[in-house]
Amino acid sequence: MADQLDTLLDEGRRFPPSAEFAANAVATQALYDAAARDRLAFWEEQARALDWMTPWTRVLDWKAPHARWFDGGQLNVAANCLDRHLSGPRRNKAAIIWEGEPGDRRVYTYWALAREVGRAANALKRLGVRKGDRVAIYLPMVPEAAIAMLACARIGAVHSVVFGGFSAESLRDRIQDATATVLITADGGYRRGQVLPLKRIADEAVADCPSIRHVVVVRRGHGGEGDESFAEMTEGRDHWWHRLLDKESPHCPPEAMDSEDLLFILYTSGTTGKPKGIVHSSGGYLTQAAATTKYVFDLREEDIFWCTADVGWVTGHSYVVYGPLANGATVLMYEGAPDWPERDRFWKLIARHGVTVFYTAPTAIRAFMKWGTSHPAAHDLSTLRLLGSVGEPINPEAWMWYHEHVGRGNCPIVDTWWQTETGGIMITALPGVTTTKPGSATTPFPGISVELVDTTGKPMAKGGGFLTLTEPWPGMLRTIYGDDARYQETYWSRFPGRYFAGDGAKVDDDGYWWLLGRVDDVLNVAGHRIGTMEVESALVDHPSVAEAAVVGKAHELKGQAIAAFVTVKEGVKPSAELRDDLREHVARKIGAIAKPDDILFSADLPKTRSGKIMRRLLKDIAEGRALGDTTTLADPNVVARLKEMYEDKE
Ligand code: WT7
Repeated sequence: MADQLDTLLDEGRRFPPSAEFAANAVATQALYDAAARDRLAFWEEQARALDWMTPWTRVLDWKAPHARWFDGGQLNVAANCLDRHLSGPRRNKAAIIWEGEPGDRRVYTYWALAREVGRAANALKRLGVRKGDRVAIYLPMVPEAAIAMLACARIGAVHSVVFGGFSAESLRDRIQDATATVLITADGGYRRGQVLPLKRIADEAVADCPSIRHVVVVRRGHGGEGDESFAEMTEGRDHWWHRLLDKESPHCPPEAMDSEDLLFILYTSGTTGKPKGIVHSSGGYLTQAAATTKYVFDLREEDIFWCTADVGWVTGHSYVVYGPLANGATVLMYEGAPDWPERDRFWKLIARHGVTVFYTAPTAIRAFMKWGTSHPAAHDLSTLRLLGSVGEPINPEAWMWYHEHVGRGNCPIVDTWWQTETGGIMITALPGVTTTKPGSATTPFPGISVELVDTTGKPMAKGGGFLTLTEPWPGMLRTIYGDDARYQETYWSRFPGRYFAGDGAKVDDDGYWWLLGRVDDVLNVAGHRIGTMEVESALVDHPSVAEAAVVGKAHELKGQAIAAFVTVKEGVKPSAELRDDLREHVARKIGAIAKPDDILFSADLPKTRSGKIMRRLLKDIAEGRALGDTTTLADPNVVARLKEMYEDKE
């Protein structure tokens, strides 16, 4: 952390907004002023931009750590994303422009999207889904993912989207935790030219999910019209999506939902092995998703907004689906990999569809950097006018590369800090208003109260410390599904009275925030959160493994990569085959994103006298640093030996 701090302190470049951008910007200094004058009035103003069926009677009811926003108010999230755009000129505007990895394309106007959502909502109802029921969604990046989410919102069902890259076991755990009654999946999805057999994985998961009554299958994976051989359908339980929808009316009245009714659950990793079901509300969540989309992305009627995140992550929820559609924007949605069939696929997409606002992750930007400037240079990126970054700290070099080679020196960059738990963007520049500094997320969004504290919880005006939130915000998580005690313990106990996000940060003399990464046992691999405990549990689950310790190590492209230190059981011989087998085992248990890059076999792990594994020292080893303090170790020789072995490997 200290090294990082020093490099960041040297960053002296400043990028003030251009006069031209500032003159037409959607956001203005007045937003900050209004929020500073009256935070709650500011949020009420943002909530008023939505359509409410019943007005709220109270802006905020705060009994720490439980917030109720816009209490008494009723609305329907899908109606806000669709119906209200149908009466004016937006009716025939593209809502979703979609491109599949093989190059197939579809466009849904708001009118067409509303009809599909209506059909899907009616189909869910026919399957017995009622208000409050949970629906699991396990789909590739196809329009049906957004349609399924909106269909749930329309009838008041709670969706739980599970990223299509997760394993059968991960899907099973999430379905079980939420006791979902319906699963929506696809026969397959494309990734780097391969078809990922989602339905097969789903079948494996559902075999252990007694709560699932129906599985709805989108036909995507392969074959032409009528070729349904790819997925095996279980009579009575499984249904083809297109057949179900065909029979339904496109009209489905939107359910009046209380502002605090659940909109969705989204599972995310924490410091224990069990993922947390983050619970989001309807009114508060949509208010923040919509307001941040409008101001942070300087949204205009004619924009083509492309957020590259998968709907399986919160970024996909807030900035592919809910935020943009609530604003009546046109979103681009792309199914596949950035390097398929060539490394210029993203630039091709931007040129073909005339993307104006592009929101992606530092891990992708670093990959683009590595692939070279010739790819973006070969395409017409002149429609781009604003760039965004999310998921992890963006290093100043990557920021500058993004600025020069994608933004051609004239697009503001918004580096947005937030989390699954926050629901929407929390710290960000406002384009046209904020002077940016490469590598800094700049300052809190209007109406968001952030404070730096030291280890004892004492507020600090500047310097390095922990990022905390001191006031409730509309998009905040309401609880952890089925485990409110864990909610209180995880977020509100480290610094009493404050929400602690798990991030270290630095505030500079200008009050700018520089995020320094997680300070807990959570890794950030390519912008995805993975708990060290989850990977350790997966490794220990293997019959050959006795003990495992997992740490993150700095990685040029992914930000962090996973390094595992494994002790095998008596009689097992460590080998290259076992190493491969363990990596596959982790992929099977969690998903390919959690595969360790390095696995080192060791007879012992460094432990304190009380038996606690000292991951800090393992991290020093994995990152090739001099070992930190080893005085509390039961046997200091273990770690010295490990370090030698690690350096000799390969
Ligand atoms: C963690 C949250 C929010 C959508 C994507 C990830 C890190 C996120 C930034 C940023 C530095 C960032 C933090 C945070 N993070 N955005 N702009 N600068 N760090 O959502 O999986 O809930 O992960 O991602 O460490 O705690 P998530």
